[in-house]
Amino acid sequence: MKTIDRRTLLTTLGIAGGATALGVHQGAGGADSQPADASSPTWHYTPLDPQATSDLAYQYYADGGCMYAVVTSVIRQLAELHGEPFRSFPCEMMRYGAGGVGEWGSLCGVVNGAMALAGMFCSEKEKPRREALASEFCQWYESTALPSFSPAEPLLDCPVPKAVSGSVLCHVSVAKWCQESGCEAFSPEKKERCRRLAADGAKKIVEMLNAAHQGTAAPAPTLSPAVASCVACHGKEDMANANGHMSCQTCHDIDESHP
Ligand code: HEC
Ligand code: HEC
Repeated sequence: MKTIDRRTLLTTLGIAGGATALGVHQGAGGADSQPADASSPTWHYTPLDPQATSDLAYQYYADGGCMYAVVTSVIRQLAELHGEPFRSFPCEMMRYGAGGVGEWGSLCGVVNGAMALAGMFCSEKEKPRREALASEFCQWYESTALPSFSPAEPLLDCPVPKAVSGSVLCHVSVAKWCQESGCEAFSPEKKERCRRLAADGAKKIVEMLNAAHQGTAAPAPTLSPAVASCVACHGKEDMANANGHMSCQTCHDIDESHP
């Protein structure tokens, strides 16, 4: 294999007296041949208006579902402000998230879309921030009675009750809402619920990205007390037989006899 010595590399890059200049841009890996912070150079976030974003998400839902609505509401505004690279971003790709990934009822597309944005705007060096955003967003999603968005001009004008999902899974989230509302899982009311939920999620992630943009240090990801207690024994520090931070008791009934 051909090896490139440091001097040749610096000359190739056109950096005069390059040691410090390159050092500044070195990625976490620290290898000289590593491109500088490759994951982040052009996708810069600019704070957006949360309410306007939720209105846009509500509209975009019709063209690609929940995940598409959340991502597109943000990307299109940034394309208006900056043009490229946002203008060329393939929002269409995000249609895969509808119905918890192609109707599989797995991860809710609202969560999937919000976290796609977190991934876009937090470089690999900012992984702790990305995980903190996931922690805050997912706990909000699991524990908040939703939807709360109220459209000025509803596409379906019907009562839309709120429900606490208890889970980031589309299947569980929809089931809890159906129990609360008495509506069926494939009804027009359920679609209106998901449309409003996409608007709520778009607003939430923009509020969070706006706050992160202030440049404050990333907070350590926190777990709800219930999950933290399970993870204390089952997580990687102890028994290491369960990964993840989803609300455990949505699926596991733990009784008195449990250790
Ligand atoms: C004090 C430590 C401790 C805590 C806290 C704890 N567990 Fe456990 N858990 C255990 C041990 C030890 C076993 C294995 C016991 C056995 O095989 O009877 C176990 C077994 C399990 C199992 C598999 C066997 C079964 O009983 O179904 C599940 C699922 C589980 N725990 C979930 C949870 C959840 C969810 C929580 C939080 C609500 C939790 N655990 C909190 C120690 C703990
Ligand atoms: C979406 C549902 C779901 C959620 C949420 C969930 N689990 Fe599980 N968990 C399962 C299923 C399904 C299994 C496999 C059960 C089996 O095969 O017996 C399992 C297995 C386990 C086991 C047994 C592992 C073993 O070696 O036998 C433990 C312990 C466990 N889960 C703990 C947790 C903890 C702690 C959380 C929260 C951080 C959690 N689970 C969240 C569904 C879930």
